[in-house]
Amino acid sequence: MPDWAFAAIPDLTGKRAIVTGATSGIGLETAAGLAGAGAEVVLTGRDAGKGSRALAEIHRRHPAARLSFALADQASLHSLAAFAAEIVASGATLDLLVNNAGVMGLSPRQETADGFERQFGTNHLGHFALTAQLVPALLRAPSPRVVTVASMAHRRGWLNFDDLQYERHYHPLRAYSQAKLANLVFALELARRCAAAGSRIASIAAHPGFARTGLFKGSLRARLALLVAPFFAQSATAGALPSLYAATAPEARNGGYYGPDGVGETQGNPAPAKIAARARDAAAAERLWRESEGLTGLRFPPLV
Ligand SMILES: NC(=O)c1ccc[n+]([C@@H]2O[C@H](COP(=O)([O-])OP(=O)(O)OC[C@H]3O[C@@H](n4cnc5c(N)ncnc54)[C@H](OP(=O)(O)O)[C@@H]3O)[C@@H](O)[C@H]2O)c1
Repeated sequence: MPDWAFAAIPDLTGKRAIVTGATSGIGLETAAGLAGAGAEVVLTGRDAGKGSRALAEIHRRHPAARLSFALADQASLHSLAAFAAEIVASGATLDLLVNNAGVMGLSPRQETADGFERQFGTNHLGHFALTAQLVPALLRAPSPRVVTVASMAHRRGWLNFDDLQYERHYHPLRAYSQAKLANLVFALELARRCAAAGSRIASIAAHPGFARTGLFKGSLRARLALLVAPFFAQSATAGALPSLYAATAPEARNGGYYGPDGVGETQGNPAPAKIAARARDAAAAERLWRESEGLTGLRFPPLV
């Protein structure tokens, strides 16, 4: 079990957090970790039944947890806009946004409600849109953080600007790797923009290593990966630690990327993780940002 554990999470009483895709796996464990440390947590997902079961599970572990569930479908810009508008209009302060929801290896190719390839749409564009629309609530907090969950798969990905939606030559895991590279490129670009603007917002990325979760149900190839899981994978609880570290550790910094420190970054203690050169390409990040604004029809508001 990693050294940096739930006990290291500082007291989060008075903080409010949103965790996307918190109905199972790493999102549920991240929400439980934050709630257990005293934060008020909004779990989001696309299935109200799963949402109720996730709330019950966290309450079972932490009876005093302050929790709610909200429907926010990462694969629908309309759903995300409605959710964000409600948060902003409520006047709520948002200390922490954890961009966690994801799908992997979908086969055959699927699309979101807005016609985006579903992995790029759910994992990247949905979080781009949600973050942009929650900036006003984040700016009400004294030191807000946006944590974006990427993956080691980003190292195998490239931004296919000629065909970001993989309309030609769709390959389930290449599309996943692109989406996870986009998550990391977005997190690092947001960090640069926050620093340049003198924003209080910190953008930090994390990855869980290899964790046994429902993520591997998307395709046969993804399910095959689970065959090696007994040798390399860690629990979803351990997989949530890098996200929790990024979200709460005083040492985690704007522009940082954290994952497990064990062999191949598959498991272990949260530590700075390897970033592929492609993810540091500032020109590609600028282009992805423009493309994401164009596709979502949203402009990021000022970060101060
Ligand atoms: N597990 C790993 O080894 C691993 C490795 C690297 C990165 N990651 C990343 O970790 C994150 C969490 O994945 P996980 O492993 O915990 O998988 P998981 O157990 O399948 O959890 C994914 C969560 O995202 C939700 N989700 C999917 N599509 C959604 C949508 N359209 N709207 C709202 N929520 C949606 C799922 O809800 P439903 O149940 O309704 O689908 C679920 O709650 C993902 O970003 C993934 O890419 C995981």
